Amino acid sequence: MIKVDLSGKAAIVTGGGSGIGKAIAAELADCGARLWLGDISEQGAQDAVAELKGKGADAGYTKTDVSKEADMAALFDAAKAAYGRIDIVVNSAGGFLLTQLLDTPVEKVKSHLDVNLFGVMIGTRLALEAMIAQGGGGKIVNISSVGGRSGELESPYYCLGKSGIINLTQSAAFTGAPHGINVNALCPGVVRTPLQESILDNATQGGSKEEKDKLFDEIVKGRSPLGRGITPEEIAYAACFLCSSYADAIVGQALNVCGGWRMN
Ligand SMILES: NC(=O)c1ccc[n+]([C@@H]2O[C@H](COP(=O)([O-])OP(=O)(O)OC[C@H]3O[C@@H](n4cnc5c(N)ncnc54)[C@H](O)[C@@H]3O)[C@@H](O)[C@H]2O)c1
Repeated sequence: MIKVDLSGKAAIVTGGGSGIGKAIAAELADCGARLWLGDISEQGAQDAVAELKGKGADAGYTKTDVSKEADMAALFDAAKAAYGRIDIVVNSAGGFLLTQLLDTPVEKVKSHLDVNLFGVMIGTRLALEAMIAQGGGGKIVNISSVGGRSGELESPYYCLGKSGIINLTQSAAFTGAPHGINVNALCPGVVRTPLQESILDNATQGGSKEEKDKLFDEIVKGRSPLGRGITPEEIAYAACFLCSSYADAIVGQALNVCGGWRMN
């Protein structure tokens, strides 16, 4: 298969230890990029780096809590020390918050947004600063969600964070574009990652694999014309496109990768 050419590009991926971030890191590496992962799970990051190195890629990681500015600064410093520059930043670290609007303690909302929104804000700002300081050029991809497209009954604060990412991406695109830096977002639909697995586990109260498969099928069949879940690799292909020179004219966009579940 012909891949986009990211040979030698230095890429940071937050949340690169699992799911979508891990798949994006693997695909970026397949396209020739050198990877530096930031993840709060040291084991996840270690395993992902071992897999990347096993395929012959340059890779390393920094244990990072994306909600902590100092951790993020250390992540960017480590990547710069390893590769001398930063060409690509993908902000994928995040989680889910399944609650009703009225029953969620404010502190819980804040800690969720600290990771899901402010972590992406910190990563976007550090990426812009680094790319501008090295003379411009670069690609930033923020992982939002179709949940960022409209509010929902059962995950209002998740949707709040994800819509904030789309808005932040648009504002950051104004700062980046004059320097040749493209800032864009991806809005995945339902992707069966460990995060999604834990949602299915809760919904079925620890049900069997068959029960979870059935629930997953119901969710995706009811929601998208494509009628199936999206794979982490399919999100990764879109990310690699946005990180390539084919996307040089794409600025401040949020691209749904959801099998048509949302069309705007
Ligand atoms: N899976 C889906 O259906 C889906 C759909 C839309 C959007 N998303 C978004 O995609 C992103 C990745 O989700 P996923 O499904 O791959 O989940 P995942 O749980 O498989 O992976 C998330 C990774 O982020 C890391 N992480 C969590 N909190 C962190 C923190 N504070 N600092 C650093 N790392 C942290 C975890 O350790 C993990 O490695 C998230 O932002 C999620 O909201 C997922």
